[in-house]
Amino acid sequence: MRSHYCGELTESHLDREVDLCGWVHRRRDHGGVIFIDLRDREGLVQVVFDPEHADAFRQAETVRSEYVLAIRGRVRRRPAGTENPNLPTGKIEVLATRLEILNRADPPPFPLDSELEVNEETRLRYRYIDLRRPVMQQRLRLRRDVVRVLRQFLDQQGFYEIETPFLTKTTPEGARDYLVPSRTHPNHFFALPQSPQLYKQLLMIAGMDRYYQVVRCFRDEDLRADRQPEFTQLDIETSFLDEGAIMDLMEEMIRHLFAATLAVELPKPFPRLSYAEALRRFGSDKPDLRIPLELVDVADLVAQTEFKVFAGPARDPGSRVAALRLPQGAELSRKELDELTQFVAQHGAKGLAYIKVVDRSRGLEGLQSPIVKFLPAEVVVAILDRVGAENGDLVFFGADQAKIVDDALGALRLKLGHERGLLQGRWAPLWVVDFPMFEWDEKEHRWSALHHPFTAPRCDLEELKANPGQALSRAYDLVLNGTEVGGGSVRIHRPEMQDAVFKLLGIDEQEAHQKFGFLLNALRYGAPPHGGIAFGLDRLVMLMSGSSSIREVMAFPKTQSAWCPMVDAPAEVSEAQLRELGIRLRKPADQRVTGG
Ligand code: AMO
Ligand code: AMP
Repeated sequence: MRSHYCGELTESHLDREVDLCGWVHRRRDHGGVIFIDLRDREGLVQVVFDPEHADAFRQAETVRSEYVLAIRGRVRRRPAGTENPNLPTGKIEVLATRLEILNRADPPPFPLDSELEVNEETRLRYRYIDLRRPVMQQRLRLRRDVVRVLRQFLDQQGFYEIETPFLTKTTPEGARDYLVPSRTHPNHFFALPQSPQLYKQLLMIAGMDRYYQVVRCFRDEDLRADRQPEFTQLDIETSFLDEGAIMDLMEEMIRHLFAATLAVELPKPFPRLSYAEALRRFGSDKPDLRIPLELVDVADLVAQTEFKVFAGPARDPGSRVAALRLPQGAELSRKELDELTQFVAQHGAKGLAYIKVVDRSRGLEGLQSPIVKFLPAEVVVAILDRVGAENGDLVFFGADQAKIVDDALGALRLKLGHERGLLQGRWAPLWVVDFPMFEWDEKEHRWSALHHPFTAPRCDLEELKANPGQALSRAYDLVLNGTEVGGGSVRIHRPEMQDAVFKLLGIDEQEAHQKFGFLLNALRYGAPPHGGIAFGLDRLVMLMSGSSSIREVMAFPKTQSAWCPMVDAPAEVSEAQLRELGIRLRKPADQRVTGG
């Protein structure tokens, strides 16, 4: 039926007879001649029908967008002046001698040949048509390339790809579980894995040494642009490697990936930043290092002043007072500053103090600010010196609990960086290391794990018990352009340590044994030191393809409300199915929220 793909034809095929199959992307009737852009997975080619080939011409008059055609024709050079430099096949065209309509098509719900924004629900409802668009085909091709290169790299490094179950028990990664009722065990449920974390550790205990898996994970959590209820990880675990060796190997893999698929040379080595430094300088544990703006602490300078808004947080150990200098920011209008104040308020900030630096040589006279009147002149000078303020700059301030200042100024930094076009360089990878083991959960009044409960601490058992709040973990995150693309750690491989961490997390012995007894047992049978990482494959491909959401690089994603408009899932099930599972519904089934 087919000798070539439409998109692969070039001048090297001149004068060749070809058989093509594909979809009608666009048809143009130019009086005596008909042009059809025929499309397949590999691209588009222009096919010309002239009345000399009467049969084909007559057929061509009847085709519509998205009809499926088989054509035979001869490749020829396009007449001078009609080449299309934007199309890989733009120098040639195919003069058709035969046309067969393989299938007709209803008019598509949205045009495929325009850049028009189509509403996402419609795109997802007709995803099989949306995926025909060349840009979507390119994204899925990049995804195929990415997975292939990663698999090749890991195969060469001696990793085994091993599958782990989907019907399993809860794996705590901080989200809610998707549950699957069991018919054979009434009143019992499987949980779909939030990650293969426990299985991959068991594979290390089983002596598999190096494991990986391209694996679906399931998390019932609030969705955003970079989160889906089911998503794909490149999941990895190794034995007898410490965190330095694991990070080195993974860095090499990512560098190789970018070189092989995008011809991009990433820095060697990737910068490493401690969690504490990342928060201090960027207000985020996943900083976008392309933005050349930094938070600077000024608490020591304002602690003894009368200005309560600053002095209060400056004297409180859980708070911070930080400044953010925006070069050339003095041009911001009152209205823009009000909008930014509202923006930081969404992140909990009570205000957004600022100093506009008009002319430093004129002292306080040369500044515009709602706060300098509350501050001694020498303090103002010291602040401006510390942040390196020059004429034309604007300095923002946040003063509050550290978390609020970090969130607010961190988000402001991102917003200003993007909106004011300050990004430097295209790719900024880094490792964030030295995470605390635990965070204090105010609501629950207990410690919670920053990574997951199987992450090893840097200290020994005694120190951990004595001072859990101070303990650092052996975890690491890979951040790329402000997105967390991977995270992992060296694991606990001794049962006493695992017991102790469960206790600190408020999981008592009974619960630990009920939920993780198999792991605690396994740790008693010769568990090797081990550690690993998981990359968010969707996020990686999203960034590599320049897409704004992981939905753009998944064939069949769900909407923000975790719904698939195409197959209409989740769906009601029959009374008989429920009875078989021993389930009685508490709410009428139509109380459902759908929508994008
Ligand atoms: P973590 O929970 O950090 O670690 O997940 C690893 C990576 O998976 C991606 N990711 C997601 N991508 C899309 N949608 C989601 N809902 C989603 N949640 C996470 C992120 C993240 O960096 N078992 C550990 C890994 C380990 O310790 O080896 C784990 O799952 O890119
Ligand atoms: P006020 O004393 O409330 O009028 O605030 C004086 C200035 O400080 C205003 O510009 C406020 O936006 C700003 N401001 C108030 N609270 C904070 C805060 N917690 N952090 C930073 N700026 C603040």
